[in-house]
Amino acid sequence: MYYSDETVEEVLRANDIVDVVSSYVHLKRSGANYFGLCPFHSEKSPSFSVSPAKQMYYCFGCGAGGNAATFLMKYENCGFQEALQSLADRAGIKLPSPQLSEETRKREERRAQLLSVNKESATYYYKLLRSPKGRRGYEYFLSRGLDTATMNAFGLGYADGSSNDLVRHLREKGFPDEIILEAGVAAFDEKRGLHDKFWNRVMYPIMDVTNKVIGFGGRVMGDGKPKYLNSPETPVFDKSRNLYGLNIARKSRKPYLIVCEGYMDVISMHQAGFPEAIASLGTSFTAGQAALISRYVKEVLLAYDSDEAGVRAALRNIGILKEAGLRARVIDLRPYKDPDEFMKALGREEFQKRIDDAENSFFYEIRQMEPAYRMDDPAQKTEFYRQIAKKLCGFEEEMERESYLRSAAARYLIPEDLLRRQVASYNLVGGESPAPVPERRTPGAAGARNSVNEAFRKKQRLLLTWVSDDPGLYPQIRPYIGAQNFDEGLYRTAAARYFEQLEQAYGPDTSEEQRQHIRFTPAAVIAAFDEEEEQKEAASLFEERLQGVESPQEKEKALLDVLLSLKQEQIQQLSGESGDPQALGKLIAAKKELEQLKKCRFTIR
Ligand code: UTP
Ligand code: MN
Repeated sequence: MYYSDETVEEVLRANDIVDVVSSYVHLKRSGANYFGLCPFHSEKSPSFSVSPAKQMYYCFGCGAGGNAATFLMKYENCGFQEALQSLADRAGIKLPSPQLSEETRKREERRAQLLSVNKESATYYYKLLRSPKGRRGYEYFLSRGLDTATMNAFGLGYADGSSNDLVRHLREKGFPDEIILEAGVAAFDEKRGLHDKFWNRVMYPIMDVTNKVIGFGGRVMGDGKPKYLNSPETPVFDKSRNLYGLNIARKSRKPYLIVCEGYMDVISMHQAGFPEAIASLGTSFTAGQAALISRYVKEVLLAYDSDEAGVRAALRNIGILKEAGLRARVIDLRPYKDPDEFMKALGREEFQKRIDDAENSFFYEIRQMEPAYRMDDPAQKTEFYRQIAKKLCGFEEEMERESYLRSAAARYLIPEDLLRRQVASYNLVGGESPAPVPERRTPGAAGARNSVNEAFRKKQRLLLTWVSDDPGLYPQIRPYIGAQNFDEGLYRTAAARYFEQLEQAYGPDTSEEQRQHIRFTPAAVIAAFDEEEEQKEAASLFEERLQGVESPQEKEKALLDVLLSLKQEQIQQLSGESGDPQALGKLIAAKKELEQLKKCRFTIR
């Protein structure tokens, strides 16, 4: 970040988030908050809320959340600097000119040059496709069923057979050889010198979400090898953090994205009216890509080729998607090979049906697993049940788990009770007892461990949310709970930062009168994180809800439950550190606090 924390806080303080958001979204007051239609996903009834007290927004539909600056970043699709600048302008604050180090300045300059080589090359290929020299490419696209509008929307182009046209063109435009080479559109060898990397290929420019060309995929005309040649990774082209078609798909306002295997699949799906289609970039799907997707939607449909490789890729990627907190379903394209073929054969309505019928990843995984077990062998049958039970542990919500348990039992003719006991035997169902430290658990499925972690993290989020709803709670819980009770990493950092503010407000030297004038909002906590991803996660810490907990008594009971959990977790951890003499003291103190906690009564609004 180029600006100091103080500057950032000053700018945020000078802007009321309700004003800022109101310039973009029609908001209506309801109770303490304002509500409107979420600008980040498509919805008919408002689940987008803005809290003047917390100075943050949060969407209960899509999980988008953050402060005034992150709102602008997402809405205007700009960086933090720009968002802060426009907030400063609104408030009439003059920002100090950013102090870039020499190194940063050089790096930024180089990136800008690479992007401009890419842009120039894309324009070159684009024009060539539409000129007489590009006839072969143009006819190829037509033969694949693309219309001109689609070709234009994807910026498709052509690299012809003569081997140095692009390099010559870029040199004429004044780009130095070194930059042309680094951008990946040219290669170098002793014999030919600097020469075009792509020739005799139709060209697919690859754009990032802000529509900047970051690389290329080129498909050979005819049967040459490789079928697709892709740009190498460069400082502006990170294949594991970008997705083909996302620049368009992100605006489709569907609650899911469809991940396909190839460029051509994406393009023909868009043309058929499914702009939510995306693909990875000539490499396998990565966790970085899953994280990118999770900024936009919570569910992914996989439209992979229906061959064995496609099934393997689907299974692998379901895991990656789940790790990123995304739900996954799998689209059945049989008897066709890929979405492109399917679309040509059966068309959009039939594809929409396949979307609606897409199989939930849980059943998909089990179905793929089944043939590996012989059901006439009792040992194998038991093992199969066990695998199902393990998968069931992956569902956090008890109701959801129970409903899958029932349908799995029915589908595979397993006595429900047996399955339920099996799940319980992994010791994962306990909503009552606090989550023990993951590392010391019964060895279970990794998914199971995650769900325990997630349940525990939910408790941490609940606590921060309740305190931010009612800061008066802070002095009550302070004797028992601190930042050390939160998961290491983002959770702990956020809690520490938030408690620090509250500590000032509720310190011994602050009077009630003064407190009225201190603003302690989660907005500042969110601002402390640099990455959009982190900011979003930080925002979610202050917007956790517990279904069915409404009356003060219920709330009070839930609060006590959460506090006890956090305390017990701490005790578990401390008892694990037996080698540390200080830990023993801490352990005794923590146990005492636990006893006190059990007798506590809290007032919560
Ligand atoms: P496919 O071979 O299925 O390509 O590879 P496709 O997109 O369906 O292309 P058409 O329909 O035959 O023209 C799927 C994806 O794998 C990557 C590309 O990203 C491609 O879109 N790939 C494939 C490569 O990077 N290199 C290759 O040689 C082949
Ligand atoms: Mn394909």
